[in-house]
Amino acid sequence: MLITIAFWLLVTLIYFWIHGPVTRFLRVLWEIIMQIYNKKAIDLRTKFGEWAVVTGSTDGIGKAYAKELAAKNMNLILISRNLEKLKYTKDEMLLINPKIQVRILAADFAEGENAFTKIHSLLQDISVGILVNNVGKLHEYPMYVGELPEKELWDIININVGTITLMTRLVIRQMQKRRQGAIVNVSSASEFQPVPLITVYAATKAYVKSFSDGLRAEYSRFGITVQNLSPFFISTKMTAFSSKLQVSSTFVPDATTYARNAIATLGKMDNSTGYWAHSIQKLIILMVPVWIRIKIGQIMNEHFRQDYFEQQRQKRL
Ligand SMILES: NC(=O)c1ccc[n+]([C@@H]2O[C@H](COP(=O)([O-])OP(=O)(O)OC[C@H]3O[C@@H](n4cnc5c(N)ncnc54)[C@H](OP(=O)(O)O)[C@@H]3O)[C@@H](O)[C@H]2O)c1
Repeated sequence: MLITIAFWLLVTLIYFWIHGPVTRFLRVLWEIIMQIYNKKAIDLRTKFGEWAVVTGSTDGIGKAYAKELAAKNMNLILISRNLEKLKYTKDEMLLINPKIQVRILAADFAEGENAFTKIHSLLQDISVGILVNNVGKLHEYPMYVGELPEKELWDIININVGTITLMTRLVIRQMQKRRQGAIVNVSSASEFQPVPLITVYAATKAYVKSFSDGLRAEYSRFGITVQNLSPFFISTKMTAFSSKLQVSSTFVPDATTYARNAIATLGKMDNSTGYWAHSIQKLIILMVPVWIRIKIGQIMNEHFRQDYFEQQRQKRL
């Protein structure tokens, strides 16, 4: 009798021990297969609505994503800090697709609440089909928390946490009424575990993931799609602290390659890296215990930090 109980206890323990990792492995494997084989395009305009809002849309992923949306016939609202860059970006979008409408708005999300007054009035009469919460801020280079200037800390929190939350609140009720819409939140692979030397950034991205999952649970029954994207490195201005990350490759794509892949997952995957090669990285990373991943992150960022200091030294010479 005792032996039978002990046996079933052991079976149950083994089940719970392997259940998590096995499900995680299969889910990510599915993510890779889907991205490689599923080429059927969704008509975004019909599925979600005619207008898309992209935050942080004059550079990097945001701009590349906006270009993809323009090519897919979506009208655009582009929000970034710099009016000149916005005008230039608007012209680029209209070159891609002269049939769409493009509106621009200069707003600095680091200002927190103040940035939202003009965004609110701009969006009042517009049915937003897709909101791409792309804008984000990383430390200038890998730093210890105590080294981060107070202003930069506030900026990271306001931009990465405040903006995504408030932008979503601005559009979610109209989407709910129409029973149609998509929110795309650009998180980061740094949400998978704490990442030393970009500790604050990684923590804000864990917020983005948690926010996305909670939001989806609240609003999917109203026909709203909530997607969380967690990419690894992409060669953009954000990763300019290391010269190695400015050379694009299969595992460090440029923004165009990334955005083209990511948009193909919209409406098909709730959680994804957005890019097949990053999903392979995710598959490997998630098999490694968290404490080892933290250690690897620390070693990698110490390396990037030295790379940054070397770049600065070269500039001074
Ligand atoms: N690059 C990567 O390796 C990577 C990896 C994982 C996740 N991500 C995430 O992907 C998103 C986009 O990153 P990215 O690499 O494309 O960045 P990026 O190249 O630095 O571009 C950032 C964009 O946001 C705008 N912006 C910056 N600060 C702003 C502010 N305070 N108010 C309004 N607009 C602002 C910038 O335009 P202006 O300067 O003209 O305002 C620019 O258009 C971020 O959320 C980032 O965390 C990036």
